[in-house]
Amino acid sequence: MTDIPAIDPMTTPAWEALDARADAFDPDLRAWFAADPKRAATWTRDAADLHVDLSKNLIDEDVLAELLALAEQTGVLDLRDRMFAGEHINVTEDRAVLHTALRRPAEDSLEVDGQDAIADVHAVLAKVYDFADRVRSGEWTGITGKPVETIVNVGIGGSDLGPVMAYEALKPFVREGLECRFISNIDPTDAGETTKGLDPETTLVIVASKTFTTLETITNAKVVREWFLGALRERGLATDEAGEKEAIAKHFVAVSTALDKVAEFGIDPNNAFGFWSWVGGRYSVDSAVGTSLALAIGPDGFEDFLAGFRAMDEHFATAAPSDNVPLLMGLLNVWYSNFLGADTHAVLPYSQYLHRFPAYLQQLTMESNGKSVRRDGAPVTYDTGEVFWGEPGTNGQHAFYQLIHQGTRMVPADFIAFANPAWPFKEGEKDMHELFLSNFLAQTKALAFGKTSEEVRAEGTPEHIVSARVFTGNRPTTSIMAPSLTPRVLGELIALYEHITFVQGAVWGIDSFDQWGVELGKVLALQILPAIEGDADALAGQDQSTKALIEYYRANRD
Ligand code: F6P
Repeated sequence: MTDIPAIDPMTTPAWEALDARADAFDPDLRAWFAADPKRAATWTRDAADLHVDLSKNLIDEDVLAELLALAEQTGVLDLRDRMFAGEHINVTEDRAVLHTALRRPAEDSLEVDGQDAIADVHAVLAKVYDFADRVRSGEWTGITGKPVETIVNVGIGGSDLGPVMAYEALKPFVREGLECRFISNIDPTDAGETTKGLDPETTLVIVASKTFTTLETITNAKVVREWFLGALRERGLATDEAGEKEAIAKHFVAVSTALDKVAEFGIDPNNAFGFWSWVGGRYSVDSAVGTSLALAIGPDGFEDFLAGFRAMDEHFATAAPSDNVPLLMGLLNVWYSNFLGADTHAVLPYSQYLHRFPAYLQQLTMESNGKSVRRDGAPVTYDTGEVFWGEPGTNGQHAFYQLIHQGTRMVPADFIAFANPAWPFKEGEKDMHELFLSNFLAQTKALAFGKTSEEVRAEGTPEHIVSARVFTGNRPTTSIMAPSLTPRVLGELIALYEHITFVQGAVWGIDSFDQWGVELGKVLALQILPAIEGDADALAGQDQSTKALIEYYRANRD
């Protein structure tokens, strides 16, 4: 096992200095901008195609210097280099962390556990692309010779959130006539609603599961298989065992690291796309887990997607610390959560296409950094992962922005927008996208600069409601812009947040790549099921609250 030091960040001189600064900190964005006409330029960075304005954050040069010192003293960049090199930085699972290898060019090589990881990656990519070409061209057909029209991805967590988010984000790039649907929840509603109205003869099912043991996915996959074979039988198709086998071979493929389990399930291993233990589920959208996306946007689109990740990896690996956007954004998050008391972080895309991006980031950030012990097993004595959340603007503006503007809690927020719309609608003479962007800009402006009581009074506001209409300002935001939302830019955005998450975990000294916290619930669900089904002994073994809830269920189930 590699020795990966876990420094207690609170013991570093930089932490102490930041603590002292936070105590005396009195941010005033209005005054800072007024005093420094170059503040916007000074605090704006470009990373690949992303234009990132950090100027409306509660930061000055002194805080930046201490944050960079904190990164230095906690070994963030050393850990980054170890990650890129394939060292086992996931210490509790004794694994390399190599999602960055998924997007390295074919001419590179990287030996991991005695294997060339890059060669393996490109062999699988070639297989995925060949399959995608055959499906998209209509060469691959179902058992009745019809081409695929609908792809159903069955997966959960990292085997669902990335594919669905990226498919939704890249809809303008999806080949006409192809549709992807996604089933994740073990609530039977999900499988029922998703298969409703589907033609089994033109449906391709992708069962995506890294482990191929996840209860939700395997249950859903079996349910979908039954729906599929039943629907075919109603049409007089696949009526015997050989027919069923042929139908499954033509309509079911799998993505997994456990190819033996794929075969056990009945899917032809030739129709399975592998990946590796060194790709965490939440870091896997650019592996074979993205097969549904590769089918939808095609191999060229997927290559652009990978190129975006690669561009951000190169930036993270090589940019100087003071220009390194993932490093700076990760350190800002540490500043807000450990020194200025922020508990949550909002991500607010001004792009309807990115409507699943916040949900995707919830798994990425919270499964990674929701930890209470460091890599050496010692309990942390400081806060770790903050709660990530969000919704697209402008919808959020009419829902929860009130709290961000005038509530008692600080909610640092990332605003994301694109210069070019996918839909060039106009409302009369007005460009609809410009109306949209004016909201993006207005919100960050209002959050930063607020509105003083003098300004409110000057509008003739009655004195008794002046205070209710004051905006304090000094509410931190980062604005991220790019020319357009393309596969490449989406890859850059995802990689940006992967590396921000990495930086925070590295400062905190935690293992951002395990997820033991989701295990207990899985084990208990299996123990509780017999009690729900009526096993008296299993019911008697439950705690009183669980027992009473099961009794309520059994009394009310029709
Ligand atoms: O919820 C825990 C988890 O292990 C995630 O990390 C993972 O993305 C998800 O379950 C699905 O796992 P699998 O791809 O193995 O089915």
